[in-house]
Amino acid sequence: MSKTVHYLKDYQAPAHSVSRTDLSFDIRDSHTEVTARLTMRCERAGAPLVLDGSAELVSFKINGEAADYVLENDKLTVAAPPAGGFIVDTITRVRPSENKTLMGLYESGGNLYTQCEPEGFRKITFYPDRPDVMAEFSTTIIADAKRYPVLLSNGNQTGGGSLPDGRHWAKWEDPFKKPCYLFALVAGDLVRTADSFTTRSGRKVAVEFFTRKEDAGKVRFGIESLKHAMKWDETRFGLEYDLDIYMVVAVGDFNMGAMENKGLNIFNTACVLADSRTSTDADFERVESVIAHEYFHNWTGNRVTCRDWFQLSLKEGLTVFRDQEFSADRAGRAVRRIGSVSRLRAFQFPEDAGPTAHPVRPASYEDMNNFYTMTVYEKGAEVVRMYHTFLGEAGFQKGMRLYFERHDGRAVTCDDFRAAMADAGGFDFGQFALWYSQAGTPVLDIEGRRQDGSFILKVRQTVPPTPDAAAKQPMQMPLKTGLISRSGDSLEFEYGGKRGTEAVLILTQAEQEFVLGGVNTDAVPSLLRGFSAPVRANYPYTDADLALLLAHDPDPFARWEAGQTLLRRAVAANIAAAAEGRPLPAHAALREALGHVLAADIDPAYQALLLSVPTEAELWADMENFDPLAVHQAREALLDLIAAAFHSRFLALNSAAREQEERFPDPYGYAPEPAALRTLRNVCRAFILRADPAHIEQVSEKYDEMAKNMTHEWGIMSAVNNNPSPLRDSLLAKFGGKFAADALAMDKYFALTASSLRGDTPQQVRAALQHPQYNAQNPNKVRALIGTFTRNVPHFHAADGSGYRFLADKILETDRFNPSLASGLARAFNICRRLEPQRQALMKAELERIAAVENLSSETGEIVGKILA
Ligand code: ARG
Ligand code: ZN
Repeated sequence: MSKTVHYLKDYQAPAHSVSRTDLSFDIRDSHTEVTARLTMRCERAGAPLVLDGSAELVSFKINGEAADYVLENDKLTVAAPPAGGFIVDTITRVRPSENKTLMGLYESGGNLYTQCEPEGFRKITFYPDRPDVMAEFSTTIIADAKRYPVLLSNGNQTGGGSLPDGRHWAKWEDPFKKPCYLFALVAGDLVRTADSFTTRSGRKVAVEFFTRKEDAGKVRFGIESLKHAMKWDETRFGLEYDLDIYMVVAVGDFNMGAMENKGLNIFNTACVLADSRTSTDADFERVESVIAHEYFHNWTGNRVTCRDWFQLSLKEGLTVFRDQEFSADRAGRAVRRIGSVSRLRAFQFPEDAGPTAHPVRPASYEDMNNFYTMTVYEKGAEVVRMYHTFLGEAGFQKGMRLYFERHDGRAVTCDDFRAAMADAGGFDFGQFALWYSQAGTPVLDIEGRRQDGSFILKVRQTVPPTPDAAAKQPMQMPLKTGLISRSGDSLEFEYGGKRGTEAVLILTQAEQEFVLGGVNTDAVPSLLRGFSAPVRANYPYTDADLALLLAHDPDPFARWEAGQTLLRRAVAANIAAAAEGRPLPAHAALREALGHVLAADIDPAYQALLLSVPTEAELWADMENFDPLAVHQAREALLDLIAAAFHSRFLALNSAAREQEERFPDPYGYAPEPAALRTLRNVCRAFILRADPAHIEQVSEKYDEMAKNMTHEWGIMSAVNNNPSPLRDSLLAKFGGKFAADALAMDKYFALTASSLRGDTPQQVRAALQHPQYNAQNPNKVRALIGTFTRNVPHFHAADGSGYRFLADKILETDRFNPSLASGLARAFNICRRLEPQRQALMKAELERIAAVENLSSETGEIVGKILA
């Protein structure tokens, strides 16, 4: 298979622009005929006209006459198109029911949906399929009125009516110019739930959510979330919605979370439907944040879009930052921040340290679908957060206003965003450009000493080599810092001419010293507060220093981080002891610290975080040549020790939290306060069942009484999921029977099946592949079962290679019809070269087996190729 690599450095402005795109979809049982009229103009004299397209081409005309063209490798080329303006008319034929890629126009449950970002539009018609070609669109849809009563596209509906033979039509017009990746069409038998939002300037916007009939009862929370997001964007960012209608459509078969198509968002059901009987509190929170994310794209993504796909983080990093801020303003800023940091560390740090590492703005790609990554999204959001930290809220908002003033209606670059921030803030972000071009997680090695009435911090900064570049330059970043006295007080100090208890140190050099003045007592530095930069920071803290910070640091991130460091050290000590055949340490200091956490009167969700041991993916960050099973056992042993040491405390905490929960007027519906209590209860439950596995008998008896909503059911099922008792199997079977009719709840059933540590899990996973509710073509199901299995450390990393073989088989099966889904699964092999040699060899053999397959997709091929390189 020949591979084509696209490079950022090769960018050229489009040779032809499109001012209008008039589409018509004639939906038939066997196929859909797409008629497209493009009003085009030559922008570079003498250039050939090149259109992207892979649909079946029925007719192609320029200015009303058949034109000569060459069709090769999904490109249609006209050697000598007219100069000036001209009209292109094409007719294509597509077959949505045969399209299992879930890109372009496809069928799900009898209805039709589209997904065009990044390059799906070319599967529908022939077009300059690139984001810097922006046009006004109209869409006419014609279909059978019974089978497709609802016909939707972008913008406002401007026409419609019935036709002979039971057919009907609708016409939609979008007054805002957009790239074709924001095009959307939905046709089908859907239920509409309507509401409205009045903007701050007094315009009434229709809000309409569309679902299949059985899901109509689950949209209320999504609608409320949207209205909160609309209001929030007005108050915090001064941004108002611009069309008269905002539509959200839920679809069960969807490759990703959701898509921000102009005026017509399309959502994975998992990211829009919520009902406390079938959704956990975490699901509610995800719905709220994804609804907000897609809404925020209307300005950061749609009004101002990307010049090319290398700039993806321009819209994604910024929009993730905006949705994170929205969620933080809604409830629980500290807990949200820690959640984002954990996700970054568990999933982005490994990406940045592995074979598919790439900068926030990649320099090249084979298949753009592979670059919707944690780096582009989550590290990209951290980069935006650093502008905010440097400029403050007012300066950042000034930068945003300048960005829109300069670029509304345009397709721009990350440098344009950086320039707006620099110019508005009067701040030099020259060196900051490196955050967009250098991959790898920077490491800060920090030392501190007291000298002549000052506390001096010495910071060494290194950026590790990545496959794309060996030598790296130091980056500009904010290091938010405080000082804590031995008695736990926040100390005042002088820095940059100011006196206070906190300062933002600006790092720019490979090695730098910072003098914090006016410090006359012994102090422990509190570093990287709020996780002020996406880096790994090391400081030679003693365990006593960490216990002090855990008890007294006023910064909730730094406080939590002190506890995490203690826990990481404890796991490391267990690994070392096991390797040397010594008995495991007793961890007395850690137990004492955790005792204080358990006794503290703090937000229960924050308390739950303080009691959480870092995940395996996070623990691996510091390791090379490691045996995943050894790490797993060391971590399990620590969990066992904590469970045993505090068994009665967990029981007491759980019942105290239950009493508080029951005092809420609607105790089991989603709201941040009872949800926080449930988070803590589920942490307690896991420890209780770990300390006392026989407790499953009571759980089993009282299950129905305890199963007040899905958060409780999930917490209870998770707590018994590793239990060797047959009661676990009957509870799981009962869960599966209870929710057999609910697709999203069944995803949880499959995730529970695949995450159990029990020895029989591989057999249970294989059996689940045959379960009537499993569907290998549905991405949510595949991720719930296969994706979850790849994070089940002892089973996926089984010493005989059976886990790797299983995954490789599934990747190959999936790649035949849905390359995006397959290449996503293949990322589980990213860890390959950091494993000990035997597992590395086993994994490599499977990767080579995949790479050797004929007709492997370029998406999967790119990932596998990079891991093997
Ligand atoms: N733009 C969408 C979002 O941010 C995601 C699109 C993902 N596309 C893809 N091909 N993976 O929510
Ligand atoms: Zn997005």
